[in-house]
Amino acid sequence: MASTTQICIRPETRRDVPAIEEVTSVAFMNAEHTDHNEQFIIRGLREADHLSISLVAEDEVTRIIVGHVAVSPVNIANGSENWYGLGPISVLPRYQGNGVGSSLIKRALADLQSRHAAGCVVLGNPKYYTRFGFKPDPSLQLPGVPPEYFMALTWRKPTPTGTVSYHKAFEPST
Ligand SMILES: CC(C)(COP(=O)(O)OP(=O)(O)OC[C@H]1O[C@@H](n2cnc3c(N)ncnc32)[C@H](O)[C@@H]1OP(=O)(O)O)[C@@H](O)C(=O)NCCC(=O)NCCS
Repeated sequence: MASTTQICIRPETRRDVPAIEEVTSVAFMNAEHTDHNEQFIIRGLREADHLSISLVAEDEVTRIIVGHVAVSPVNIANGSENWYGLGPISVLPRYQGNGVGSSLIKRALADLQSRHAAGCVVLGNPKYYTRFGFKPDPSLQLPGVPPEYFMALTWRKPTPTGTVSYHKAFEPST
């Protein structure tokens, strides 16, 4: 990415949908711990009207969509409301390492706070997500994943206790 490249973060429009699927599929092509179905997760969330936040990162010069982040509601077994899950998040490989992912995450978290969300969870590498305030929290569990990879950010304390479940769009296809 050229150092002068300007990136704008904005909500998706209908015209962005094919580019979002392409960016997601390309970004996850060489990623670890993936079934390569993230673009279908985003599509399923959109079709179910569960895409609470969908932001694109657009190169202001070329108008190419270079990154995307999705946020969707999650359920907590104790019935706590207003909790969300961050992801999938993708940045085109040639744009990675320049702060695009960070800008997408910071804007998504700011948007959640402005909606008075109670908190947000994320599944991913703690080396990356702890820099945004996420941390593993023993109160919240996602079955089947190492606890250090499942993190929460609580705005409305205390953090609820319970098992977290994502929308069925996240379930592996058979
Ligand atoms: C994860 C991703 C969205 C980050 O986007 P990005 O624009 O490169 O991120 P930023 O430029 O804001 O941050 C780069 C930093 O994050 C780190 N980082 C990126 N991906 C990481 C990962 N999966 N695990 C740990 N650290 C990671 C980089 O090493 C870099 O660290 P530094 O700031 O200490 O140099 C991007 O790498 C991507 O699309 N990866 C493939 C898809 C994926 O794995 N998505 C996330 C699943 S949890």
